[in-house]
Amino acid sequence: MIQHRTPANMSDHVALIITKILRFFADTFFAKRYGHRAVVLETVAAVPGMVGGMWIHLTCLRKMESDRGWIKILLDEAENERMHLMTFIEIAQPKWYERLVILAAQAIFWNFYFLLYVFFPKTAHRLVGYFEDEAVISYTAYYDQVSTNPSLNVDAPQIAKDYWNLAEDAKLLDVIRVVRDDEQNHSEVNHGRADSLGNSGDKKSPKQEPNISQINASDLESYKNANYHIYDKPPFILKIGTEEKIFDKLFEKNDVKEAAILTAYNPKSVETDISINKEQNLELEKKLVSENFSFIPAEGVCPNNKWPGEKSFLVFGMSLASAKDYGHQFNQNAIVWVDGTKIPQLILLR
Ligand SMILES: [Fe+2]
Ligand SMILES: [Fe+2]
Repeated sequence: MIQHRTPANMSDHVALIITKILRFFADTFFAKRYGHRAVVLETVAAVPGMVGGMWIHLTCLRKMESDRGWIKILLDEAENERMHLMTFIEIAQPKWYERLVILAAQAIFWNFYFLLYVFFPKTAHRLVGYFEDEAVISYTAYYDQVSTNPSLNVDAPQIAKDYWNLAEDAKLLDVIRVVRDDEQNHSEVNHGRADSLGNSGDKKSPKQEPNISQINASDLESYKNANYHIYDKPPFILKIGTEEKIFDKLFEKNDVKEAAILTAYNPKSVETDISINKEQNLELEKKLVSENFSFIPAEGVCPNNKWPGEKSFLVFGMSLASAKDYGHQFNQNAIVWVDGTKIPQLILLR
């Protein structure tokens, strides 16, 4: 069971209290009818991204400044939530009174969230972060319900197979899993933005955010959410922030305490011709060999296949300082580094 972030101030407490109250109503109204719950709540979940994206767009027009990628992130979130809706509408048809709830909820929530976003953007993003945490909890419960009752595990709707690139024989459980991953991602994005905004009511512009990195927000999200495939025997996948126990064995086998994932592909995250990428990666490989590092092939892969995989190396025994040097030398925006915690960390270089 996931935990909510501990509220750090009044703004966070207000967001969490609103979330808990709405959770109570949702639990009372839907109980364990998760398909119906998903349909109704996704019509609400698709509102904040659109409101936030629209308001940042208008703010940037007035202030004539960059949005640093945030408009696209928030509009993508809204679209992603709408795809959740379009998927679950194939699983459960709302009853007439649920359609009434949807109408009323949209009328109230759009206006409430718009005002909240304009005056208290930090609270608004925290609220969505908490909503998303609740969504992860609900989809986990839905997953458990379907996995213990195989007759509920119907074929995945075609729209879901197309959108998430699922296998032709994908089932509802596969859909719930990818939707839950999306909700987890929304949680991280919204809590992250709430963290980076000033106190509630302090309407910092996107440009003034204390986001010290110069990397645009969209690239940053890609790095954080990428699957880092490690082509060991057997192969495995690393995620930023997720402990991977296999490092116990790998570190012991290689007699090291740390490792880095490095690539020379796409310097500064500008898509580069494949032949140049391969050439640069060969340079990186030669340098690693010349400095006696042991390594295994790896690849950074975008979970939505929005960009081609970047061939990389999991390099053993590389200190953080040395990994940063390599990253700078090959013009990378970021590297991944793992220490004794066995948790891959994203290290930004710009
Ligand atoms: Fe959703
Ligand atoms: Fe969500």
